[in-house]
Amino acid sequence: MRVAVFGLGYVGSVSAANFAADGHDVIGVDVNAEKVAAINAGLSPIVEPGLEQLLKDAVESRRLRATTSTAEAIAETDLSLVCVGTPSRKNGSLDLSYLIRVCEQIGDALKDKPSYHVVVIRSTVLPGTTHGHVIPTLEARSGKKYGEGFGVSVNPEFLREGTALKDFRQPPLTLVGHNHAYDAAPTKALYDNIEAPLYSASIRTAEMIKYTSNAWHAVKVVFANEIGNLCKRVGIDSHDVMDIFCRDEKLNISANYLKPGFAFGGFDQIVETGKKRIGILGFSFKAGTDDLRESPMVILGEALLGKGYELCIYDRNVSLARLMGANKEYIEQQIPHLSRHLCDSVDDVISKSDVIVIGNGAPEFAKAVEGCRADQTVIDLVRLPIDFAALQAHYDGICW
Ligand SMILES: NC(=O)c1ccc[n+]([C@@H]2O[C@H](COP(=O)([O-])OP(=O)(O)OC[C@H]3O[C@@H](n4cnc5c(N)ncnc54)[C@H](O)[C@@H]3O)[C@@H](O)[C@H]2O)c1
Repeated sequence: MRVAVFGLGYVGSVSAANFAADGHDVIGVDVNAEKVAAINAGLSPIVEPGLEQLLKDAVESRRLRATTSTAEAIAETDLSLVCVGTPSRKNGSLDLSYLIRVCEQIGDALKDKPSYHVVVIRSTVLPGTTHGHVIPTLEARSGKKYGEGFGVSVNPEFLREGTALKDFRQPPLTLVGHNHAYDAAPTKALYDNIEAPLYSASIRTAEMIKYTSNAWHAVKVVFANEIGNLCKRVGIDSHDVMDIFCRDEKLNISANYLKPGFAFGGFDQIVETGKKRIGILGFSFKAGTDDLRESPMVILGEALLGKGYELCIYDRNVSLARLMGANKEYIEQQIPHLSRHLCDSVDDVISKSDVIVIGNGAPEFAKAVEGCRADQTVIDLVRLPIDFAALQAHYDGICW
């Protein structure tokens, strides 16, 4: 492919050298003439292990050259990767001035280009930036319409400085955000030689995934340091702890506990409905258990009762536990005030309530909820697999 790379910093020069090594014809563009001259001389504009040799090979094989001319680069390529800086301002907000400027320049160049050109945003940007800034700027300056005269996709970068070449070759994943398949296809084709799972998403979702990843890495560092401070205080080596902690790839380093859902928050959503008759489907802390100790639904139920709400609760396992088993005593002794509100069936709860709160993912709940009336509200704390085409009630998810 014929590719332009805008911004020859850490991300741009690594991308340009690697795409050239993979056989693409690459033109690097930078406003900094010294960086352009360095690349054309086969020298690396940044310190990154292995990059200089890769750049030298790419320039010698005539697969890579650099220029300060946006017009030249746009005219001679089919796709542009935007890798300009998006630094943080002092107040933490994002400085989009470089991004907007490069979009103005690309837009000006697109005005005179007869063929379709895809602009790929590789810089890290907040969700909404591509639709709010990139596309309007390109449309205004080119006089063309997004999706007709030019395309846009988002392809966030996951490399780390110091191991950038290895990270480029073996990324955790390749992510392409797009709204049109014909913009995604050339973006994905760039990665034909990279062995990594490739995921597609909408442009806004892809922007958010990059921020979610950065935030998660920060959370990990902060968590490890909190554990480290505790360990230091009590004379335990924090690295011994985390070495073994990280060996648990089922519960610790895994997808578990990373889906938005209940246990914290949600009470306000019920209060805001303004309705007083509340049905709860699922009372134990997860489907398939009768254990009510520690169940956040018990705390929620008590809060609602205390505020004078009418409650109607159904949980098949809890009903069984009330008759026999280990939790019979707990129900009778610890929560008699709540057990009085246990109903006999899902239908009983639905017929007696204005708001139906889904507390766990028992398999019978999704179908039952689809039968709720249009004047009822369903507050889903677990994300049931509901067929929304069949649902008449108002639906509200806790974090979705
Ligand atoms: N550095 C990293 O490790 C890393 C990793 C992942 C994502 N990112 C993201 O990638 C983006 C680029 O980061 P970087 O570290 O490579 O930035 P950088 O500051 O090293 O390089 C940016 C380059 O863009 C050039 N530039 C500015 N305006 C231009 C214009 N109008 N036309 C052409 N070139 C222009 C600058 O001269 C500079 O050479 C940022 O959004 C950053 O957040 C960086």
